[in-house]
Amino acid sequence: MPRAVQAWLWLKQPARFLGDCWRAYGDVFTMRLPLGINLVHIADPELVKGVFGGSSDVLAAGEANAAILEPIVGPHSVLVLDGPEHLRQRKLILPAFHGDRMRAWEATIRNITRAEVARWPVGKPFPLRPAMQSITLEVIMGAVFGVDDRARREDLRRAIVQITGLGRHPFLLFATRGRRLGRWAPWARFVRARGALHAALGEQIRDRRRAADLAQRADVLSVLLLARDEQGRAMTDDEVRDELVTLLFAGHETTATSLAWAFDLLLHHPPALGRLITESEGGSAEYLDAVIKETLRVRPVIALVDRHVRQATQIGEHTIPAGAIVCPNIYLAQRREDLYDNPAAFWPDRFAGHAPPGFGWFPFGGGIRRCLGASFATFEMRIVIPEVLHTVVLRPASRRPARIRREAVTFVPHNGARAVVITRTQPTARPAPPPQPAT
Ligand code: HEM
Repeated sequence: MPRAVQAWLWLKQPARFLGDCWRAYGDVFTMRLPLGINLVHIADPELVKGVFGGSSDVLAAGEANAAILEPIVGPHSVLVLDGPEHLRQRKLILPAFHGDRMRAWEATIRNITRAEVARWPVGKPFPLRPAMQSITLEVIMGAVFGVDDRARREDLRRAIVQITGLGRHPFLLFATRGRRLGRWAPWARFVRARGALHAALGEQIRDRRRAADLAQRADVLSVLLLARDEQGRAMTDDEVRDELVTLLFAGHETTATSLAWAFDLLLHHPPALGRLITESEGGSAEYLDAVIKETLRVRPVIALVDRHVRQATQIGEHTIPAGAIVCPNIYLAQRREDLYDNPAAFWPDRFAGHAPPGFGWFPFGGGIRRCLGASFATFEMRIVIPEVLHTVVLRPASRRPARIRREAVTFVPHNGARAVVITRTQPTARPAPPPQPAT
């Protein structure tokens, strides 16, 4: 097909186009897009393993990400770096997501969820995805940025909502980049919102550096300020700011959309929903874990990851030319019939007591680029899902589960995952117990 047609199908019917290519060409195929962009999709777990284990001198993720993400996340972001600089940033960030630290955020996440659910209308359809976005944004402001000040929270929220809104139409945004089209053109609005975000984060970083209780705080910002690399160097303010913006944009919408998919799937599968409620009320988290894994399998928010091929390389029997982009395809590999019975069906029981197959389940990517927030996202989902289900009785607003629609680089529910609150089962304003101290 002409490149323009492939691009149109990839934008407008991404899941269907992937499925059609897979059936026609098998586990490795090339999608040819305008501007000479060639995406080599890989759905074979063995080959995916090879890509994730490949050298970053040959397969560069940072370079592949930078083209689109650098204007948003900045030049110091772990997402756009490669080689030793990437590893340094990763090592500095990783301890912030240690399990013990995250446990201190549990009460915050629970309280934020309760406050959000208390605002939902009863008996009227509403989209769950924006509701989940407001939960995950508040969680990032508390757990990652550690912002207590109301005015600063408001400044941040305003700038983030504006940038996220503009980021939903990346083509419009980039088409107006660098052009003099007036102050209301998308790119000009983006630059202003980014300036406001940087200003608020800059103040937050400076204030926190001076805080007397810096070493006692569990938020990610405080941990980043105290982190030292192997040479004993701390991060600069600009580095810390870029990493905070990265964690925000990598973590906020991805987790919110995964939560929205989880509810959409559960509400359309009453036996799974019933089992989840019964088992969670009995104090077991095993089925909840299975529900989360199955949601991330059948509705991965990020359908593929990319690596820029710097020099021609061999992947299995395929020679991939320099300049191509190799994409381990999460969406396709997680729908393989040789790994999953009835792969298109939502059936969490397949993971109850069973670990997912290696490289046949990788919603968080892999190798040295695996998602830094994977355990944080799962931790948050584990709190939000039961909290919502114990507080309200929901029913789906549509007969069928939502279709997959593309929004920028993510796969989202086409209708925002609409649901109706039938009744409230718990008083929603009760405060959560005080946070457990980090051990
Ligand atoms: C369900 C929610 C999430 C999903 C599905 C997800 C998925 C992914 C994927 C597929 C990648 C690319 C990995 C690769 O290239 O191999 C990634 C990278 C990353 N994610 Fe997530 N993510 C989620 C939540 C989060 C959260 C909550 C945070 C932090 C607060 C986060 C921070 C990052 C960072 C920093 C990277 C870049 C890692 C690197 O390049 O070394 N993510 N994520």
